[in-house]
Amino acid sequence: MAYQSPILNVMIMAARKAGRPLIRDFGELENLQISMKGPADFVTSADKRTEKLLIEELSRARPGYGFLGEEGGVIEGKDKSHRFIIDPIDGTTNFMHGVPHFALSIGLEREGVLVAGVLYNPITDDMYYAEKGHGAYLNNKRLRVAERREMAPSLFATGLPFMGREGHARATAEMTAVMAVSSGIRRFGAASLDMAYVAGGRFDGFWERGLKPWDVAAGIVLVREAGGMVGELTGGADALNGGTLLCANEYLQPQLLKLLKGAMPDKASG
Ligand code: IPD
Ligand code: CA
Repeated sequence: MAYQSPILNVMIMAARKAGRPLIRDFGELENLQISMKGPADFVTSADKRTEKLLIEELSRARPGYGFLGEEGGVIEGKDKSHRFIIDPIDGTTNFMHGVPHFALSIGLEREGVLVAGVLYNPITDDMYYAEKGHGAYLNNKRLRVAERREMAPSLFATGLPFMGREGHARATAEMTAVMAVSSGIRRFGAASLDMAYVAGGRFDGFWERGLKPWDVAAGIVLVREAGGMVGELTGGADALNGGTLLCANEYLQPQLLKLLKGAMPDKASG
């Protein structure tokens, strides 16, 4: 039986509740109000409403906990030991285009350490959750990272910059290096779910630059609890705040890191 502590249960219930109206929105995308955060960077009325709902639900169960949300930023709590990190819709572009691959994401930090993560895709009804020391699950099924040790049979995922984001040339160089030695690369458009797929052994590894804490908080707990390694592309360990992330099993992680580090000469930019 999957372990669910009271706080994990609160996070799961909040994700389910806030996910329900998204199913309706997804069925009538023509009514969605959309605004731009930057070039090709959108926020919808659904993102804002979902974040508000999640904060309401989580605050009701745990008054005083702080928040870091993609849309609303920092909300200081009276309880300085706990903070929820929320992405109301990871994969907003997929959502807007009617692609059913996006997730509500909730991570929980205790004393600055990530201790729990929940990811929910309301369209597929896939609930991913993990708590530090208690394993990672999809619905009731335990998740474990893949066991492959060689690059050749491995399948990787990445995220690519779009209009207005930097790093296009570097992303191309990295893909060139990885595609030459592996079974392929996928770009599915929701970093959190890419990490959940690594946790479940569907993907053997994932990397991306330009990520924010809300994109990865829940996914970090999932991958670690599934037995995987999570770090920065610089080799550093602060994948939550570092802005770059690489995760894989213990055999592929160092190989992928070496390959990506060598993919583009340091003096080249982009
Ligand atoms: C985005 C998705 C995408 C990734 C971007 C993120 P958002 O999150 O995770 O896969 O490539 O870097 O910003 O904006 O849809 O929450
Ligand atoms: Ca988002």
